[in-house]
Amino acid sequence: MGIAIALVLLALGSVLFHFLSPWYFTPIASNWGTIDTTIAITFVVTGIVFVAISLFMAWALVRYRHRAHERASYQPENKRLEFWLLVVTSLGVAAMLAPGLVVWADVVRVPQDAREVEVVAQQWNWAYRLPGKDGKLGTVHSRFVNEKNPFGMNPADRNGHDDVLLASPELHVPLGQPVKLLLRSKDVLHNFAVAQLRVKMDLVPGQVTYSWFTPTRAGSYDLLCEELCGIGHYAMRGRIVVQEPAAYQAWLERQPTFAQLNEQPQGNAAAGKTLYAACAACHGQNGEGNRAMNAPKLAGHGAWYLERQLRLFKVGARGTHEKDTFGKVMAPMAATLVDDRAIADVAAYIGTLPDKPPATTFKGDVDRGRARYVTCAACHGAEGRGNPATNAPRLQGMDDWYMATQLRNFRDGVRGAHRQDVHGSQMALVAGMLADDAAIGDILAYINSR
Ligand code: CUA
Repeated sequence: MGIAIALVLLALGSVLFHFLSPWYFTPIASNWGTIDTTIAITFVVTGIVFVAISLFMAWALVRYRHRAHERASYQPENKRLEFWLLVVTSLGVAAMLAPGLVVWADVVRVPQDAREVEVVAQQWNWAYRLPGKDGKLGTVHSRFVNEKNPFGMNPADRNGHDDVLLASPELHVPLGQPVKLLLRSKDVLHNFAVAQLRVKMDLVPGQVTYSWFTPTRAGSYDLLCEELCGIGHYAMRGRIVVQEPAAYQAWLERQPTFAQLNEQPQGNAAAGKTLYAACAACHGQNGEGNRAMNAPKLAGHGAWYLERQLRLFKVGARGTHEKDTFGKVMAPMAATLVDDRAIADVAAYIGTLPDKPPATTFKGDVDRGRARYVTCAACHGAEGRGNPATNAPRLQGMDDWYMATQLRNFRDGVRGAHRQDVHGSQMALVAGMLADDAAIGDILAYINSR
């Protein structure tokens, strides 16, 4: 009797939970309402079967419970019962599967007027490519991929020169216009998933998969990689911003084309030397860093990293958090660099400075640090030399006291919390694993040992 009551409560509780629970799909922001309908049909069919079977079992437990002097009759065959079970089950399965086929036919049939966007995934970043004015994407090949050409653009293909290249995980799309996603991966399986858009598709190395949607609600939606793609999988996030066509057009015009990126001024070290005079006051004549001024060593960092950080300081994406005491000192200094050329010049000059290892200040447990560093190595490299492809700066041979402050800042939401600091926010997610300052000390001790 107890089990019968439990079965009835279980069925009742499950139905109540389904209707009263606050956990349900996010409000939809695309044309794919049919996907929700399909799932609702599945819920109804499986829900009715679940309740019916639970109640039948409870009824059978009570009706056919053990009674002395009563024997069960054995009925291995019952043609009529089996016929009806077969018909009802087939109808139920068909009701669940058929609507899915109809929706899938829409998923694979892309509207003619959809604008194409290429999504490029790699461990653990998203990047995008949009066709330029000619409406055609240029060809790409893995043999063209290098530090300066992360998309692998074919330099000889004229169609690619006006392609818009976004090295950021944030993509904007115009409201109400269909978008066709062309998805490719540079390394392993990834999965492009945006819950509000009801879009989810694998990216498979060696082929281009596709999906499409028409955004119906303006807003900013999280893009998640939903394929377990390695140690940094959980940090592989992006953003899809749906905006009015006019605002979208304005955004699009600010984005660089392949040709523009190739024309970007090479930093001029001689011009940078003059600008660097202001930096030298804190960071030292040779960019060697000065702990007394809380100014880290700069010599030895790649220009790509220095330029990115200077830009972040300049636009207020770094050094604006109220608890970032030293960053707040740096921000107004970065603001004195008038444009991208000045930033490139300073970074070029720093690239000419002698790279001497600084004094180490951390003495932690190197072995424990080695085990912890495995996660860091995925982006920063086994020896901590940094890797532009994963947007990870050099660690080895840089100031450990500075890295300690930054790790704490990342962990505590002081650095990497700004919307525009897309790579910093990724680091902030990873730094969340540092439970205490001892963990930071061990990692730095290990880096110092390299
Ligand atoms: Cu890419 Cu998970």
